[in-house]
Amino acid sequence: MLPPLLLLLLLLLQLPHSWSSPPFQTSQDFTRCLFSQNSTVATHTNLIYTPASPKYSLLLQSTIRDARFNTTLAPKPSVIVTPTSLSQIQASVHCSREHGLQLRVRSGGHDYEGLSYTSPYPNYPFVVLDLVNFRNISVDVPEKTAWVQSGAILGELYHRIGEASPNLAFPAGSCHTVGVGGHFSGGGFGFLMRKFGLAADNVLDAVLIDSKGSVLDRASMGEDMKGDCQEMSWLEAMVFHAGFPSNSSVDVLLDRTISPLVGSFKYKSKSDYVQDAVPKAALLKIWGKLFETDVGGGIILMALTR
Ligand SMILES: *[C@@H]1O[C@H](CO)[C@@H](O)[C@H](O)[C@H]1NC(C)=O
Ligand SMILES: *[C@@H]1O[C@H](CO)[C@@H](O)[C@H](O)[C@H]1NC(C)=O
Ligand SMILES: *[C@@H]1O[C@H](CO)[C@@H](O)[C@H](O)[C@H]1NC(C)=O
Ligand SMILES: *[C@@H]1O[C@H](CO)[C@@H](O)[C@H](O)[C@H]1NC(C)=O
Repeated sequence: MLPPLLLLLLLLLQLPHSWSSPPFQTSQDFTRCLFSQNSTVATHTNLIYTPASPKYSLLLQSTIRDARFNTTLAPKPSVIVTPTSLSQIQASVHCSREHGLQLRVRSGGHDYEGLSYTSPYPNYPFVVLDLVNFRNISVDVPEKTAWVQSGAILGELYHRIGEASPNLAFPAGSCHTVGVGGHFSGGGFGFLMRKFGLAADNVLDAVLIDSKGSVLDRASMGEDMKGDCQEMSWLEAMVFHAGFPSNSSVDVLLDRTISPLVGSFKYKSKSDYVQDAVPKAALLKIWGKLFETDVGGGIILMALTR
């Protein structure tokens, strides 16, 4: 069986939501701002494409997979930026905020909804940050890890891993044109997930730029999540999920007569599979029922099967 390759540099970008104040700005304002940010921007020739650039249409269409958005009517970016450095991405984030432009990030562009290159809001100008130049991949076979940049497609990642070792793999999707950044940030499911989990489960570190333009990695982000977690052995987890205090002896599992909940309060418990997400109003109704005096408390475990 293939061990999973543990990953990676992931360049994920939070999108600024700046369209509550949408003064229409021309692409020139944005471009001028970008040049004023960093002199290395100015020396980069193939960085900025506006509708007036000869290669604009070709670049925009290059990764469109859905013909619905490949029309003259589909809203188009005021500017496409193809950065080659972190500072150019930071400058793009800063300038799109400064000029009230939405920022849309494109890694592979495979998304069928067109979220990375068009907009459902015709009146809000936007910039496409196309990460086509962010596609370096380095595989460390002894460590069984790799760094991959956000604009690499899954096909490139698989190919590089396979070249490095026939015994390594990475659990992600089956469509090879999907960009790593969008795929992993959405979870990323694929054929190896029943054994190895989602792509996101195998991400060890990530370098990302937030909506203020700050560069963060795992250490500087801190382990802010996921704070709610306690590390324990599988056996201890079985004691914990049975409802015993987390420092209980694992020997409680051998006792057929005790249950941590029985006797302490009255409750009803139900585990079920659901086909659709339960609306909030329905959940509130269920809670109301469970907290009626003749019940007292309740536990619901639901697995979404769709
Ligand atoms: C989008 O349009 C261009 C130019 O008309 C064409 O070359 C390309 O094949 C189209 N792509 C899709 C996915 O429809
Ligand atoms: C400008 O960009 C270069 C190269 O990416 C980077 O090393 C430098 O720190 C940047 N300067 C500023 C002021 O952001
Ligand atoms: C990709 O790697 C090459 C070779 O190390 C380097 O010159 C280039 O700057 C890297 N590109 C990015 C976007 O990091
Ligand atoms: C578990 O921890 C609680 C709170 O710290 C303590 O009161 C209790 O005695 C502990 N129980 C065991 C079995 O160690």
